[in-house]
This record gives sequence, C-alpha cells and structure tokens, in this order.
Amino acid sequence: MPKTRILVIDDEAAIRDSLRMTLEYEGYEFIGAATGQEGLALAERDTPDLVLLDVKMPGMDGLEVLDRLHAMNETLPVVVISGHGTISTAVEATKKGAFDFIEKPFASDRVLVSLRNALDQRLLRDENRSLKKAVEIRHQMIGDTAGLRHVMAAISRAAPTNATVLITGESGVGKELVARTIHRNSLRSRERFVQVNCAAIPEELIESELFGHEKGSFTGATEKQVGKFEQADRGTIFLDEVGDMSPKTQAKVLRVLQEGEVERLGSARTIKVDVRVIAATNKNLEEEIEKGRFREDLYFRLAVIPIPVPPLRERQDDLPLLVRHFMDYFSRENNVRPKRITPAAIETLQRHRWKGNIRELRNTVERLIIMTGGDTIDVADLPDVLRSPAGAVGVGVAKPSSDTDAAKAGTLREFKDNAERAFLVSKLRENGWNISKTAEVIDTPRSNLYKKLEQYQISQESDG
Ligand SMILES: Nc1ncnc2c1ncn2[C@@H]1O[C@H](COP(=O)(O)OP(=O)(O)OP(=O)(O)O)[C@@H](O)[C@H]1O
Ligand SMILES: [Mg+2]
Repeated sequence: MPKTRILVIDDEAAIRDSLRMTLEYEGYEFIGAATGQEGLALAERDTPDLVLLDVKMPGMDGLEVLDRLHAMNETLPVVVISGHGTISTAVEATKKGAFDFIEKPFASDRVLVSLRNALDQRLLRDENRSLKKAVEIRHQMIGDTAGLRHVMAAISRAAPTNATVLITGESGVGKELVARTIHRNSLRSRERFVQVNCAAIPEELIESELFGHEKGSFTGATEKQVGKFEQADRGTIFLDEVGDMSPKTQAKVLRVLQEGEVERLGSARTIKVDVRVIAATNKNLEEEIEKGRFREDLYFRLAVIPIPVPPLRERQDDLPLLVRHFMDYFSRENNVRPKRITPAAIETLQRHRWKGNIRELRNTVERLIIMTGGDTIDVADLPDVLRSPAGAVGVGVAKPSSDTDAAKAGTLREFKDNAERAFLVSKLRENGWNISKTAEVIDTPRSNLYKKLEQYQISQESDG
C-alpha cells in the first residue's frame, strides 16, 4: 500500500520541521510548502490525501488557498492551523469546508487525532460513493432499441402513480429490474421494496407469508409472523411469478387490492395497509384465465398498467450495448483487466436465440470474462452452443445426461463426473439458471461453477 501523503502549507519553517518529524514517524509521507502558491502547485502535482493549512501567511492567505484547493478537488480534506488571535478566521475556514481547525501552539497528538478523523471520514465517503455507484450500475437498464424505449416510457409513466403494474415477459428479460426501477423512481422510493416469489413458496405457506399469522394459528405457527403486505406498508410489494398463485391465494390477494387491508391467519382483526402492488409473470395470463387457472377479476386489478418486456431476440440491436455493459461490470467485479470483443464475436452472439434472454447473456459474458485468457474475446472463445448453428436455433444439446448415464459409467471417475453434472444441472434449474444464486446455494465460488459448466458443456440452451 502506498503511504498516505500529507501536504503541510505553513510559512514557519519550525512548524514544518516539527510536523515533518511527527508525520514521518507515524508513517505518513510529508510534503512541505512555505507559501500558498507553492502549496497549490504541490497539491496539483503530488495529489496529497490531506492538507494541513496555516491561515495567516504572507502573500496568498489560507482562506483563499482553501477555496482554490476545493475548486481543484472538492473532496480533499483540509485541516486548518491557526495562530493565536486568528480563531475567527479559523471558524470561517470550517464554514468554508475545512474539516477541522487546530490552534497554535499545538500538541502533535492533537494534530494526529484530527488527521486520522479526517482520513477516516474520507475513506467512508469514498466507500459510500463506490457502493452507491456499484448499486446504480447493477440496476441500470441498458438498451436503445424501440422495444426497450417503450418499456422505459411505460416505467416513467407508471412510477409516480400508485397504480398497479403487471410486468410480463419471458424468463430473464428483466421483469424484476423493471419492478425495482419503478419503485426507485416512485414517491415510495425511501420505503421498502418487498419481493415475494409466489412460485417458490409452498402452497401451504404462501398465505402466512403474504398476510402473516398469529402465534398458534396452525400447527407449526410457534411464533407470530408479520406478513409481506404489512412489511411493505407505505412501500411496494413485488408479487413475482404471480401466475403461479393458487386460486385460494388469488382470492385473498384480490381482497387486499380491493379493500386495502389484510387479516393475519388466526386473527379476526383487519389491518389497513398502504401498499403499491407490482406483479410479474412469464405466463400468458389471458391463456391461464381461459383455462380457468387465473381469476379474471384479479387480472384486471393487476393489469392497470401492463408492461410487456420484449425478449432479447426481438431487440438484438441492444446486444452490443449489453455485452459491453456486462463486460465492464464483470471486469471490475472480478478485478481483471478490461477485455475487448471482436465484431465477429458480437455477430455470433447476435445470431443466438437467447431463450434465457438477458440473464443468459449476462451469465455468458461473466463466464467469458473469467475464462478467456487473452485480452480479446473472439469467436473461438465463445462456448460451443453459441458457435454451432444448432445453438442458433436453440436445439443444441451438448451432452445428454440422465440417471442411466451413471449406471453406464465404466470408471469411478466417469461415474463421479456424471453425478456431478446431473447435480449441477438440477441445481441450476432449481435456481432459474441464476449462476450467482446457484453458486451460493451449493456453496462454491462462481468462478469454480463456471469452470464446471465449461468442463461439462452445460448451458441453459443445452438444457432445452
Ligand atoms: N435492460 C437491461 N440492462 C441491463 N441489465 C439487465 C437488463 N434487463 C435485465 N438485466 C439483467 O438481467 C438479469 C435478469 O433480469 P431479471 O431478473 O430482472 O429478469 P426476470 O424477467 O425477472 O427473470 P425471471 O423471469 O427468470 O424471473 C438481471 O441480472 C438483470 O439485472
Ligand atoms: Mg424475476
């Protein structure tokens, strides 16, 4: 780690010397300047992490130096040193954004404490900023085709209202991202976004999950539970995979939408909730209604603002943008040097069907970033399923595998490989081909999971 660099601007040589001793002893790098002008020049040239600045100096005075330092870099922490009788100036300096001020004569301990505080605060702020940036990048919606612009326009119309939104589209098209974007741009953005995956929760638990229950309301209800609707009060609830809800649950959800109140299981008391509902499904609800599996009245309640998200293959022009976006993201996340991708490789990707849509593309790019040795991703680096014409029409089955494979295995190695492959495929299916989630569930690093996918030629496409 490079040393933390401190610039001391003070016209008194004795002060500079004593600070040099203190700072160097503490492991800091010292830079000294005798005038404001010199200080500014050094600040520009040596980019210090912190400045100790005397207020009263001949020539340019400390306050002006402070202004100019902040014009140069507004996040640079400055600790002001003031002589006796210049305290009011020092107060003014803190108003102008100096981190702290120290009165002369000072004890070196006092300087060190102030300095550490300032550096800690800067570190926190930098971390905060990069976290925020990472969150923003992760939630950015990339794309510039008419298809995506329609979606964006619908998001901006829906966001400021309280209207219920129904997002539809194939698996991996970005339905959850749309839901989160609506919430983030709504008046409820400071409140909670509560997500419920209706398909992942067993039928007998979904009602208590959604509406909560009182202690002892059914066998196993050993504790009171606050339901998701209550948790989302004043915020947004995201009913994901809403097409998978049972008729009984549908009836109850409809009631919440109509009355704006919930009842915990085992309680007769109704609780008012102010919740904005966003629902999503990859099923065709009109068909589900015809087959008698989805309530029409609930459908109309949910689809006040319908937002269909088109599949990636209908907006292939977004693909290069998305690929670059994910390449940047994963290079940063995995701390690898940014790579380039050839136009031929992009074209190959554009010919693919992307049944798993943006999620499949995202996983593919992550895998490429981790697995490609060189600085350039070319056609040869792409997985087989993407290169073969079979993959392009979505029938590319790389290596069949089934239980009987295990029986057919001749060696222990083969048996283990078959078993491992079958295990991975089933876990991936269970987790909707979400690589990060699967890696977490089976407790292995993502990079290792990618290596295994490569080794066994597993992909969502080959899973059919
Ligand atoms: N336009 C986009 N720009 C950038 N990233 C996107 C875009 N659309 C989707 N993604 C990313 O693709 C992945 C899949 O998106 P998301 O989970 O929202 O899809 P989904 O439609 O909810 O999928 P499923 O039906 O499987 O639940 C996420 O990592 C998401 O951030
Ligand atoms: Mg989803």
